[in-house]
Amino acid sequence: MQRIVVLNPKGGSGKTTIAINLASYYAQRGDRPALMDYDPQASAARWVRKRQASQAPIYLINAFERDNRVTRAYQLRVPDGTRRIIIDTPAAVEAADMPELTANADKIIVPVLPSDIDIHACARCITSLLLVAKVKRAENRLAIIANRVRRNTRMYQSLTRFLGTLDIPIVATLRDSQNFVRAAELGLGLHEMKHYQVSEDLQAWTPLLAWLEEPSGRAAVAANAAGAMGAGEAAGAAVGSAAPTPKPALFA
Ligand SMILES: Nc1ncnc2c1ncn2[C@@H]1O[C@H](COP(=O)(O)OP(=O)(O)O)[C@@H](O)[C@H]1O
Ligand SMILES: [Mg+2]
Repeated sequence: MQRIVVLNPKGGSGKTTIAINLASYYAQRGDRPALMDYDPQASAARWVRKRQASQAPIYLINAFERDNRVTRAYQLRVPDGTRRIIIDTPAAVEAADMPELTANADKIIVPVLPSDIDIHACARCITSLLLVAKVKRAENRLAIIANRVRRNTRMYQSLTRFLGTLDIPIVATLRDSQNFVRAAELGLGLHEMKHYQVSEDLQAWTPLLAWLEEPSGRAAVAANAAGAMGAGEAAGAAVGSAAPTPKPALFA
């Protein structure tokens, strides 16, 4: 079972949009996703409730609600056979909350918009993930999505310059498109819309979906080592080995 966390303390960066589209994609592929909504605004939960009975099922967990009658673990349980858990997080998550939110995450996606304010907030978020939550680059768990991009604008150039300094993969560049808004209104994801209407936007998801299939955590560290030193040597080195020392963290 894979856990994918979509996180950025900046509101409006596209967390819910990405989380619901991933849930829809995996649902229509038969991957039995669960969508956990940690945001009291409950946008992801509202989207799930809009879905028709005929659409591929997505199991919803209102993680923002605290139910004192049952244990937290019971409240957050997913049905047997769930293959993907997608976690939508609220705005204003503190750095101190990040270790808990990301500890068991196989993949962490940070969406960022091309604006000065969002670039600044993204830098803080990435710094917290690296320094406070101790996410290591070599684990291949962390990636960025440039969202609502209008190419050929000055802000887009600033964003790509900034992202180039991070040494974290940019796994998708999504354009500003009403298709996301229309799909969300209908309780659908892009992959459930008529393909001819959304083909340009769909293509942008391909590298993200491929990155989500890549190994992460210890497996990624071992795969990196295998690439660096040859498979034979790495097989021995990977057993019980710690991750290689990450590059110096940003703004440390
Ligand atoms: N690529 C996009 N193109 C057009 N509108 C978008 C795009 N991504 C997000 N939006 C819109 O921007 C608003 C904020 O996005 P949302 O996913 O709710 O952000 P967050 O969950 O980070 O607060 C929503 O109205 C959403 O429909
Ligand atoms: Mg949201």
